[in-house]
Amino acid sequence: MKLLKKAYIVHYIQLLTFWGDSHDMLIHTRQNLNLRVESQEVMTYLLHLKCMICEQTFNSQVVQTYCADCNAPLFAQYDLHAIEKSLDRDQIKLRRAGMWRWHELLPVEDLNLIASLGEGDTPIVPLSTLGIRYRNHEIYAKDEGINPTSSFKARGLSAAVSKASELGIKNLAIPTAGNAGGALAAYASRARLKSAVVMPSDTPPIIIQECRLYGADVILLDGLISDCAAVVADMTAKGEWFSVSTFREPYRLEGKKIMGYELAEQFNWLLPDVIIYPTGGGTGLIGIWKAFQELGALGWIEESHLPKMVAVQSDGCAPVVKAFQSGWDHCEYWENARTIASGVRVPHSFADHVILDILKRSGGTAIAVSDEEILDAQVELSISEGIFASPEGAATMAAWKKLLSSNFIASDERVVLFITASGVKYI
Ligand SMILES: Cc1ncc(COP(=O)(O)O)c(C=O)c1O
Repeated sequence: MKLLKKAYIVHYIQLLTFWGDSHDMLIHTRQNLNLRVESQEVMTYLLHLKCMICEQTFNSQVVQTYCADCNAPLFAQYDLHAIEKSLDRDQIKLRRAGMWRWHELLPVEDLNLIASLGEGDTPIVPLSTLGIRYRNHEIYAKDEGINPTSSFKARGLSAAVSKASELGIKNLAIPTAGNAGGALAAYASRARLKSAVVMPSDTPPIIIQECRLYGADVILLDGLISDCAAVVADMTAKGEWFSVSTFREPYRLEGKKIMGYELAEQFNWLLPDVIIYPTGGGTGLIGIWKAFQELGALGWIEESHLPKMVAVQSDGCAPVVKAFQSGWDHCEYWENARTIASGVRVPHSFADHVILDILKRSGGTAIAVSDEEILDAQVELSISEGIFASPEGAATMAAWKKLLSSNFIASDERVVLFITASGVKYI
């Protein structure tokens, strides 16, 4: 009886605290626990979606996938003029931490339907020991491993699942190399949606268990992510599932682009000189570049100083590197893809021409590293800086060392390595 009374009092105090807090926010629900939106703020300035090839626009209020005419992805367009007039970049810093503090530049209209687990606002860590060891260089890591589900995929799936909820979609399926599957499963649970994850049977076992634990239907295939994509295409053709495959739906990119916004803010709106990103399907790299374009249009950064974008792949699966070095505008399918960096074991990207265009425009490059170089970098990064990176993340450090020795990176250039996931899941 005494215990019951105590529990009742605690509950009553919690209720009072909640009411006291609620006057300055529109609503505070289970899905969006860490989001606060002031009543005078516009939730999103999303206008429509656009195919960058034929420039056709698509209504974002209904379910969209990609431009079937051009077989190309759709990109979300915002009313940047209105944002420029109504929003001060430094005001965003004062908001509650997390990806959704950039909500005007994200696609969701209904705050209640945001599925959040506290993603975003990952740290920029100066890698001083490594910087001194290699030519006194200024180098940083953006550590995405601290996101929910331990990778940057959390950002994209938070955005895509939230928007899917808003559009009334109930069942989400994904072909994945691993991390995106874990993130979909977690965010779908958060939003009370059903998820199916199709992945190669040699995906790290922890990721497979994680997806099952979140309640996803897990399908394992003896094959690559491209084989998984064919299975998901079949599932969606039958009409029961909606595919959130990379670039087959437009909103994962939006979550990932916030990495670019955070970077600009963390560098006090003066972007670094080089960004090194492990590239598979390309959403991370393309998302960051999209952020820089939007930031330029908003007048929040200097458009004349954009970083050189570097795509890193494994020499066991390097379609982007091959195409870039050959001067092509598209990639060929990479046969017999093999690497320990499963996230970049992507034999072909749907957005290959966009990735190649960004590398060229930014004055960047594409570089392949071996699995041995990745493992060495993983150890060096852990011992020297206390960051345990996934193989994909460690690949950026291996690439940095190569680019320093080839003088692609000058010693006075500031470099950011994207540590896209934690190494913990790969043990
Ligand atoms: C840890 C990690 N890094 C990088 C990538 C490649 O990401 P993107 O598809 O954005 O190129 C993946 C994709 O699975 C990943 O899991």
